[in-house]
Amino acid sequence: MLRMTNVTKVYRRGLVETHALSGFTLHVARGELLSVMGPSGSGKTTFLNVAGLLDPLDGGEYLLDGEPMQGLSDARASAVRNRKIGFVFQSFQLIADLDVLDNVEVPLRVRGLPARARRERAGARRARERRGARSRRGALKGKAAMISNGCARRRGALRPAGRAARGRA
Ligand SMILES: Nc1ncnc2c1ncn2[C@@H]1O[C@H](COP(=O)(O)OP(=O)(O)OP(=O)(O)O)[C@@H](O)[C@H]1O
Ligand SMILES: [Mg+2]
Repeated sequence: MLRMTNVTKVYRRGLVETHALSGFTLHVARGELLSVMGPSGSGKTTFLNVAGLLDPLDGGEYLLDGEPMQGLSDARASAVRNRKIGFVFQSFQLIADLDVLDNVEVPLRVRGLPARARRERAGARRARERRGARSRRGALKGKAAMISNGCARRRGALRPAGRAARGRA
């Protein structure tokens, strides 16, 4: 699924070059779970940024589902990110002014899904059918700024998949 081979990433600040990744090779199979550990400055964030297509690599090869990820345009990188990559941020990064459901729908909006399909996917209808309209809809309509920490964490975790209905809001 993810294959990085001999990847290099160099940061340049003025005359100073930092080789944040050098000869970095990692193969991850579908369904495999892993954690990245290492001392401060060892390149963990750099790896995540490169793997998540937030930062381009400088050398080597990166294949995601067999497709080369080197030299992608910004638009193509965004499209791949939208479909294949999900970040769960420590600080949730929910948009405070949007309600809970709209937050979860953000990636589906970027993907160009029409409103009806977005709602369907984010689970509003299923949630209503299963658990009764009022409390549920109320919870999903709450502004992200108003919800509890635990709820924000769950929504932050569900957003990459564009689904809100799992778990209690
Ligand atoms: N934007 C940048 N510009 C210049 N150098 C950078 C930049 N980002 C990271 N570096 C350097 O690259 C190296 C790897 O940094 P990185 O942030 O990937 O480490 P890390 O393992 O995530 O560290 P930490 O555990 O402190 O978060 C460090 O030497 C760092 O100073
Ligand atoms: Mg880091």
